Amino acid sequence: MDHQKLVVVGQGYVGLPLAMRAVEAGFDVVGVDLDEGRVKRLASGDSFVEDTPARRLDQALRSGRYHPTTDYADAAGFDVCVITVPTPLRDGTPDVSYIEKAGVSLSPHVSRGCTVILESTTYPGTTEELLRPLLEMASGLQSPGDFHLGYSPERIDPGNPTWRLENTPKVVSGMDAAALRRVDAFYQGIVQRTVPVDSIRVAELTKLIENTFRQVNIALINELAVLSHELGIDVWQAVDAAATKPFGFMSFRPGPGVGGHCLPIDPCYLSWQVKRTLGRQFRFVELANDINHEMPEHVVQRIMTGLNRRGQAVNGSQVLLLGLAYKKNTGDMRDSPAIEITRRLQSLGARVHAVEPYAEPQHIPGDVVVVDLTEGELRAADATVVVTDHDSLDYDLVERCARYIFDTRDRCRGDTVERL
Ligand SMILES: NC(=O)c1ccc[n+]([C@@H]2O[C@H](COP(=O)([O-])OP(=O)(O)OC[C@H]3O[C@@H](n4cnc5c(N)ncnc54)[C@H](O)[C@@H]3O)[C@@H](O)[C@H]2O)c1
Repeated sequence: MDHQKLVVVGQGYVGLPLAMRAVEAGFDVVGVDLDEGRVKRLASGDSFVEDTPARRLDQALRSGRYHPTTDYADAAGFDVCVITVPTPLRDGTPDVSYIEKAGVSLSPHVSRGCTVILESTTYPGTTEELLRPLLEMASGLQSPGDFHLGYSPERIDPGNPTWRLENTPKVVSGMDAAALRRVDAFYQGIVQRTVPVDSIRVAELTKLIENTFRQVNIALINELAVLSHELGIDVWQAVDAAATKPFGFMSFRPGPGVGGHCLPIDPCYLSWQVKRTLGRQFRFVELANDINHEMPEHVVQRIMTGLNRRGQAVNGSQVLLLGLAYKKNTGDMRDSPAIEITRRLQSLGARVHAVEPYAEPQHIPGDVVVVDLTEGELRAADATVVVTDHDSLDYDLVERCARYIFDTRDRCRGDTVERL
């Protein structure tokens, strides 16, 4: 049987799960990634994305329909190509150079009737203004007309066991009606439900609304946590009580700051574009960024105060951090607030030990002593800080043995616990 050929450019947190799902859905999949190390690992069945177990990767490899490669020549003759390259910030402004590079490399392989879809999170206008001309250049083809171009934001939530790629509705868009039909048909084969929208710009904005909404609401509750502490009110209980309202309220919980590839970054893509196009500030984004950015410093101040109350200084203390990844049950260290907390504690003279079962050692800040969660470590620590509340950690042991717990996640109970 003839399988459709799918190329997925970028084999990271977004691209790899898509590639795996597409193999299972019957596509011949070429996963192009410029990172040789990553491609070698994938080819040997070694997955570095928690949500893609080695077993799933192994099955895909053994089907003979998954081919990880660094060579764009392997993309030749594709039916559909999805681009999932990073879109970080460089000096606070969008860095779309990865999309540009992918577009240039892909362009010679764009053929009549093929479909190219961008999934990277980016500002509205990127697909049409930036990617389209690059794809048209070396191919000599045009969209709309010769090939189909679309955008579909990724909603993957690493570590979420309920909402996976397959059962999360996928917003789809295209340059024209024909492109939208192609993009929609592709994802219909991959996910349970698609949500077509009228234009690519709407789809691009959809993703930025989702993450700006989260960033702003997390900032709101973080600021409230700081103020409630000073007012002597238990913010956690108030949030949980508010969450019992069956309508008109969505619960966000305080934390040590935001991290990862999305929340600290995506809203900046929108505020940058608003500034560039309209000359105006997107005030909510600026404020939310400021508040969330200040949370690691607030955490360190609170630890300092807690130790002080016990007649101790941070200088010379041993601090045990529980969880370093920005998100629980994952090893993703990108932009994790734990990095800033560690840096500040160390600059004040603390010895920082950490329990982090998921992150790869090379992503953990230098000078941090990575340890197992043991009675000895807990008893030796002057302060134990719950930064990221991975479910696999034994919080009963923590409550029993730690001398002073600063809990940024409302995970621990007892006399030795102070919550954010
Ligand atoms: N991680 C998430 O939870 C998530 C969720 C939704 C959306 N997104 C968005 O999806 C996009 C990708 O994110 P990610 O988390 O998968 O990033 P990632 O860093 O995990 O993976 C991107 C991969 O692209 C490769 N790459 C870079 N330039 C390339 C090129 N020119 N050609 C081929 N490969 C190239 C990199 O080597 C890397 O392996 C970003 O725009 C991100 O904002 C991420």
